[in-house]
Amino acid sequence: MQNILITGGAGYIGSHICIKLQENGFQPVVFDNLSNGHRDAISPNIPFVQADISDDAALNRVFEEFKPAAVIHMAALIEAGASMVEPARFYKVNTAGSLNLFEAMRRNDCRHIVFSSTAAVYGNTDVDLLDETMQVQAENPYGRSKAMVETMLADYASIYGFHAVALRYFNAAGADPMGRTGERHDPETHLIPLVLQTAAGQRDHIKIFGADYDTPDGTCIRDYIHVDDLADAHVKALGYVTSSDEPAFEIANIGTGQGCSVKEIIELCKEVTALDFNVVQDARRPGDPARLVANPAKANELFGWQPKYPSPRKIIEHAWNFYQANIQRS
Ligand SMILES: NC(=O)c1ccc[n+]([C@@H]2O[C@H](COP(=O)([O-])OP(=O)(O)OC[C@H]3O[C@@H](n4cnc5c(N)ncnc54)[C@H](O)[C@@H]3O)[C@@H](O)[C@H]2O)c1
Repeated sequence: MQNILITGGAGYIGSHICIKLQENGFQPVVFDNLSNGHRDAISPNIPFVQADISDDAALNRVFEEFKPAAVIHMAALIEAGASMVEPARFYKVNTAGSLNLFEAMRRNDCRHIVFSSTAAVYGNTDVDLLDETMQVQAENPYGRSKAMVETMLADYASIYGFHAVALRYFNAAGADPMGRTGERHDPETHLIPLVLQTAAGQRDHIKIFGADYDTPDGTCIRDYIHVDDLADAHVKALGYVTSSDEPAFEIANIGTGQGCSVKEIIELCKEVTALDFNVVQDARRPGDPARLVANPAKANELFGWQPKYPSPRKIIEHAWNFYQANIQRS
């Protein structure tokens, strides 16, 4: 069985990927400092190293002990808003931390990697479907910290022989369909869990930031990707990067190609939960693009991926099931 090192594996998306890796016959090895993750989000039978990606000695030990065939690199700070206030933290963890990991990979002769990038690299555009050939123009330090890592990976591929894929996720949402793990960010900043917390009475109201965008109902449109589909994309991308030792670097969007507005998400949450709640309209937030929707064709061409849950209703149903079952967990 091949070991796969997964940095940030105790986080929201990482914990789903661990399940998918095990289901597909891989042995995940989780490397996470638990700054935002949860030890109990991953099975106790998964090797777990609590350490920081800036820690060279800890990285060396994990490569020497587990000899991973590849790395899935997810460890990062994820709040775009916070990156506008403290950009240094984002460049340190997301950019310098990634460089540190890539150097540890080089020292230990591991050159296959799947990297968690983000649709935030695209910034504000007016195209309907975003594709990977477009110029990146991130609007915030979070997006730029990830775009820099893509640039580094391109160089590590052409000069040091890495075989790498950067997956640009759109809006990850939902929970494991069997309820084994789900979203437990603290603080929570993502729309669907915030709306569900409001439906459950844990919040007084949900805010819509901007209802005057140039979209059919005036609210922002996003591409919500089920976290189970996202996890599946990693297993397929892993197959692609480990299929050859030839140097390569590719970028692939992971989204559904379907846009859904903030108002539509709120209405769907009302339907799924059968609960009503207060919705308050507020001003636009700086840097929020009106529309971010993927053209997901390349992920299909490159490694045969397509989403199983393209409609947001299932995403919300699974998120709601997890939320209700875990309402007391932090
Ligand atoms: N959630 C989304 O919608 C979304 C969208 C696009 C991209 N991404 C990317 O996906 C990845 C995972 O996101 P998530 O939503 O699961 O976030 P998360 O915060 O739940 O997971 C990130 C994990 O990384 C760990 N971590 C952070 N800094 C670390 C460090 N210095 N050393 C070791 N571990 C560290 C945290 O403890 C956490 O477990 C991130 O790289 C994020 O940028 C997420």
